Amino acid sequence: MHLLIRFDHVLLFFFLCFVQFRFLTAQSDELHILLRLKISFQSSSTDVLDSWSSSQSHCNFTGIVCDSNQSVIAIELDHQGLVGKSLPFDLICQIQSLQRLKLSFNSLHGPVTEHIQYCTKLQLLDLAKNSFSGQVPDLSSLTELQSIHLDGNGFTGVFPFKSLENLTSLSVLSVGDNPFEPTLFPSEVLKLRNLYWLYLSNCSLGGRIPMGIGSLTGLGNLELADNALFGEIPSDIVKLKNLWQLELYDNDFSGKLPIGFGNLTNLSSFDASNNSLGGDLSELKSLTRLSVLQLFENRFSGEIPEEFGEFKNLTVLSLYTNDLTGPLPRKLGFWSNFSLIDVSENRLSGSIPPDLCKNGKMTRVLLIQNQFTGEIPPNLANCSSLTRLRLSNNSLSGLVPSGIWGLPNLNFIDLAMNRFQGSILSPDIANAKSLAQLRLQSNRFSGEIPPEISKATSLNLIDMSFNFISGEIPPQIGELKQLDSLYLQSNNISGAIPDSLSSCSSLTVLDLSKNSITGEIPNSLSSLSALNSLNLSTNQISGQIPDSLSSLRLSLLNLSNNQLSGPIPDSLSTAANFGGFAMNPNLCSSTNPNFPPCSSSRSTTKSTHFRALLFSLLSFAIVVLFSSLYYIFIKNKNNNNNNNSINNIQTLNPPIWDVKSFRRLAFSEREIINSIKDENLIGHGGSGNVYRVVLSNGTELAVKHIWKSNSNNNSKTTSAMLSSSSNEQPPPLARRRWKTRRSEFEAEVGALSTISHVNVVKLYCSISSEESSLLVYEYMRNGSLWDRLHGEGEGKGGLAWEKRFEIALGAAKGLEYLHHGCDRPVLHRDVKSSNILLDEGFKARIADFGLAKIVRSDGLPDSTLVVAGTLGYIAPEYAYTLKVTEKSDVYSYGVVLMELVTGRRPIEPEYGEAMDLVYWVYSRMARKDNVDEIVDSTISECRREDAAKVLRIAILCSARVPALRPSMRTVVQMLEEAEPCRSVINVTIGG
Ligand SMILES: *[C@@H]1O[C@H](CO)[C@@H](O)[C@H](O)[C@H]1NC(C)=O
Ligand SMILES: *[C@@H]1O[C@H](CO)[C@@H](O)[C@H](O)[C@H]1NC(C)=O
Repeated sequence: MHLLIRFDHVLLFFFLCFVQFRFLTAQSDELHILLRLKISFQSSSTDVLDSWSSSQSHCNFTGIVCDSNQSVIAIELDHQGLVGKSLPFDLICQIQSLQRLKLSFNSLHGPVTEHIQYCTKLQLLDLAKNSFSGQVPDLSSLTELQSIHLDGNGFTGVFPFKSLENLTSLSVLSVGDNPFEPTLFPSEVLKLRNLYWLYLSNCSLGGRIPMGIGSLTGLGNLELADNALFGEIPSDIVKLKNLWQLELYDNDFSGKLPIGFGNLTNLSSFDASNNSLGGDLSELKSLTRLSVLQLFENRFSGEIPEEFGEFKNLTVLSLYTNDLTGPLPRKLGFWSNFSLIDVSENRLSGSIPPDLCKNGKMTRVLLIQNQFTGEIPPNLANCSSLTRLRLSNNSLSGLVPSGIWGLPNLNFIDLAMNRFQGSILSPDIANAKSLAQLRLQSNRFSGEIPPEISKATSLNLIDMSFNFISGEIPPQIGELKQLDSLYLQSNNISGAIPDSLSSCSSLTVLDLSKNSITGEIPNSLSSLSALNSLNLSTNQISGQIPDSLSSLRLSLLNLSNNQLSGPIPDSLSTAANFGGFAMNPNLCSSTNPNFPPCSSSRSTTKSTHFRALLFSLLSFAIVVLFSSLYYIFIKNKNNNNNNNSINNIQTLNPPIWDVKSFRRLAFSEREIINSIKDENLIGHGGSGNVYRVVLSNGTELAVKHIWKSNSNNNSKTTSAMLSSSSNEQPPPLARRRWKTRRSEFEAEVGALSTISHVNVVKLYCSISSEESSLLVYEYMRNGSLWDRLHGEGEGKGGLAWEKRFEIALGAAKGLEYLHHGCDRPVLHRDVKSSNILLDEGFKARIADFGLAKIVRSDGLPDSTLVVAGTLGYIAPEYAYTLKVTEKSDVYSYGVVLMELVTGRRPIEPEYGEAMDLVYWVYSRMARKDNVDEIVDSTISECRREDAAKVLRIAILCSARVPALRPSMRTVVQMLEEAEPCRSVINVTIGG
């Protein structure tokens, strides 16, 4: 009792002091508040708060602003690498005079608590781009608020728009990129007459934009992209005279642009891509300040207004996939720093405007699939900024200005399917150091392939087929180490196949058919271990078929219609290559009944006799082949196959299978379909099963069978199924499919069918019917990297560092190709060790494109409403924004590198709740542990330094802030520099 009274006195005493010396104590209070606040950031690795110590005046603390009375009015700690959980808003809002709270671009977690309502003097609340979660509390008491930035977090529930209705000073409301519950467009917003900035993209808005939006006449920026809004764009939007940016893309707007839209003359950026808008573009001709105009994937028709050519600021014009007609404005690029034009897939005609690159800024010219005529303007030949030139499928003609071939930054030239003529390439090609793809097929090019092509060392695809090229294949071509595909069929090429071709160690497809090639098949071709398809048919090749070819794993071999002689090597003479040897009158075979048996003495009369016999046998065989395909279902019924799965396929489906092949096939779909039976099953999943199929020629394939009707979410991923073992795998995160338009099947086919790279798994074909689909891949003998690192079965574990490094580099190159080598960047979105498959030589292949996404052609970051990926590998930005870029793949790849270096799994109980391998590595590094304790103990002593180098790269890749992560291109370079024991020979040859 006594004690209690005394305690009361003490309290009273403190209270009196507090009142009496309020001015002084307020300052020391604020010091203590800030010092306590510092504690909640203590897991940050930054030293920005080092100045926050009691020996300093708190007004001297970094990020603190005081007024003349030494009262704190602002906390400004944005972009500081702060990490914190459950920010103490009760504490912060005890700072009575706080006007600005700016903590954006950090890694702050947890809820924004109700205490925020005590920050009544707050004018700026900026918590954007963090990982805050939970519901946003009522904000109605913050009557002085001018700016709210809560975008790019993980807020859920319904945003309290109602509580904002009296906050009439509000000029910035930015709450997009949060996974809120779906709601209608908030009408309360229309009362905020002082709004200048309204960012509501990607926050689950539905319904129509209400009339009344036109009353927000102060709006400069209106962003409503990536929602489920529909209906017409309301006509009173034309009252927003101050608008300089309008973003409406990725919704379902329809109808025409409202009449009077052309009055929005301050618009500099307008994007309404990926909607269902129609009508013509004439309203836009008065928008002379436009700098970025994107309307791709709509239904616009009519002509592109000539006035666009006069827009002095135009830099990006992306109108692909519409129904536009007529010519491009003649003056495009004349006035402006034009940098991107994509008008592919329209019905445009006329010639290419002459001044596209007049100001030297143009990077991408994409005019694919239109009706353009005339020549390539000479101006483009000096356009050293150009990275992509795609003019395929038009009616362009004339000579290609020779400077085009040597542009230093160009990585994709696509002139296919036009009427270009003149010599193919020029010696300038030696300067094309960035060139990866050269597509010139189906034109009228002539002349010889210049030997300088060997200096364009980034080339991975050359397609010059269907032209009039003559001369020999230059032997220097062997220097193209990245070359994956070489298509030279249907030309007039003569001479022999150069021996040096065997130095193109990445080559997987070689097609030299329909030329006048002579000489023998070089024995050395058999050293092309990646070679998968070899077509030398219809030439004048002579000599014997080298036995060594049988060491290749070819899915297509065609040597027909040549002058080959001697025995067909037995291992090649199988049904799969049926027809591949035909029309070589001097071939013989001891096993193939279509050829005369090999005997040492054959008379010439006998040989002609055999020729006749051969011809009739061939014709007979062709008849049999076609009729067997035709009657195959009847046959199969008669076979009375008692196998369950194949019966399923045949009874559930009409016998109509649509086959799309992406590579040359040397097997029939029937051979595949017949192999879909239980004994070949190697994996199960919600969406279907995976089978290992061995063709009659010995080729192994993996076939994924997807039931289209099954919408089970828990599907196992493809690569888990492609490899034979089925060890436990990290489960894919539940996929929220709010707005996916493409099924897993379509994603996979869409992404993989156009991709050709040694480090990406090959999709041979898809075979689909109404009910189900089959995806046919190459089979990966050594399973996945996950199996090798963490699996338990035989042959697991104990990967030497050199091998791990090779796998890391291979996977990096595969991803680099996806991000930078394709027409439009492909995001994998589920990079993990179980999706990195290993062939028999432990070469890495990226697999499972079930979640892949092709990025919009404007190169801007795409966004998606699907949370994709696997726990432990998901980049932190997924938590607060659904906007995902290549950098999210880089993060996941960083996790894979950490697995390789540490030998640990991405999630282990030891890391603690909600923690992962990245956290484990970071915390060890922060404790300045010896790197040796982080590196896998099974890595040999002399390689630990090498592993530590790769760990450093892994840490860069897994930076929390996406912008700080390197691109995959840089990752490949860094890895190459970290390569273990580069021998002198390697350096000199590889250099
Ligand atoms: C604030 O810092 C400056 C120099 O950094 C120093 O001169 C000054 O004395 C400090 N003020 C207080 C009150 O600590
Ligand atoms: C806004 O002000 C009106 C009138 O004073 C009042 O009725 C209403 O409740 C207020 N709204 C909020 C959310 O405080």
